Amino acid sequence: MTPPNPPFPTQIRPYGKAAIDQAARLIGEGLPVAMPTETVYGLAADATNPQAVARIYEAKGRPSFNPLIVHVRHLDQARQLGDFTETVLKAARHFWPGPLTIVVPRKGDAIPDITTGGLATVALRCPAHPAMQALLEATGRPLAAPSANASGAISPTSAAHVLQSLNGRIPLIVDGGDTERGIESTIVKFTDAGVVQLRPGPLSIEEVAGAAGVPAAEEPGRGIQSPGQLARHYAPSKSLRLNAVAAEPHEWMIGFGEIQGDDMLSDDGNLVEAAARLFAALHRAEASGKPGIAVAPIPHEGLGLTINDRLRRAATRENSRR
Ligand code: TXA
Ligand code: MG
Repeated sequence: MTPPNPPFPTQIRPYGKAAIDQAARLIGEGLPVAMPTETVYGLAADATNPQAVARIYEAKGRPSFNPLIVHVRHLDQARQLGDFTETVLKAARHFWPGPLTIVVPRKGDAIPDITTGGLATVALRCPAHPAMQALLEATGRPLAAPSANASGAISPTSAAHVLQSLNGRIPLIVDGGDTERGIESTIVKFTDAGVVQLRPGPLSIEEVAGAAGVPAAEEPGRGIQSPGQLARHYAPSKSLRLNAVAAEPHEWMIGFGEIQGDDMLSDDGNLVEAAARLFAALHRAEASGKPGIAVAPIPHEGLGLTINDRLRRAATRENSRR
């Protein structure tokens, strides 16, 4: 039912015009490319293209749709995608381009839910590395880029690390040598109380607080949030039944492959397409007149593991504490 993934002979090319041109072409085709940044190598894809983002998850074998960092060329591009207060602008102007990721409310609908894990916020970062800057310029797109390693492996700081982890799963690694910082960017968000660190990184929270002119704050009762532990993913308010072969009368059916529905994740059982359509399908189900939602079985393999994880969370409403 699921077509086999296309095999990718993984090429490594030294950073230069030819490599960036090829990378930009691949990004335009909706494929992910490994790129050096000043922190770690990232697996970049067009952040506005749900299928391209689904292929990031597929290549990494990520067990769940963690929200991804969206890389931008400059502050102007960032301001099209997120809402910036004066304080946040101060921090961005001070540290960008550089290893600071800022979580802000999403603005507009250019960034799909699969990129943000369905959150109402988006994590934005303007990278300093010339290769990533060149790719942002060549594509004109914001680029989603998690660290370029298979899920569970450590973050890559050289092209050789990326190859070890993702050989055969991605078409291209742009080799920019060893990364300068070697650890992932500091992630912060700003609240009324000040700036909150969501992930430690090359910049200390005190530095960020100082530049923005606000105190370093902690989320009340939460302490430091480690990456991947975000609770507030999109969860439907309706009951969700998994592995359904047919809808009950009160249910909106989300089909897959041979199992037909009011809506289809993929007619031909393609998991990349299904992942790309998942969040939008849940939104349509939520908006439908039916009080319940049923979802066809999704094969428990490859990207299907990620889709099933997301569906299980939505079904148990583990995340409905808001
Ligand atoms: O240095 C870096 O940041 C590297 C390079 C490639 O830029 N990227 C990176 O991405 O580390 P990734 O996907 O491995 O880490 C993303 C983390 C998630 O685990 C999550 O904790 C946080 O960013 N994140 C993303 N969106 C968020 C959001 N809307 N709210 C809070 N945290 C978010
Ligand atoms: Mg990572």
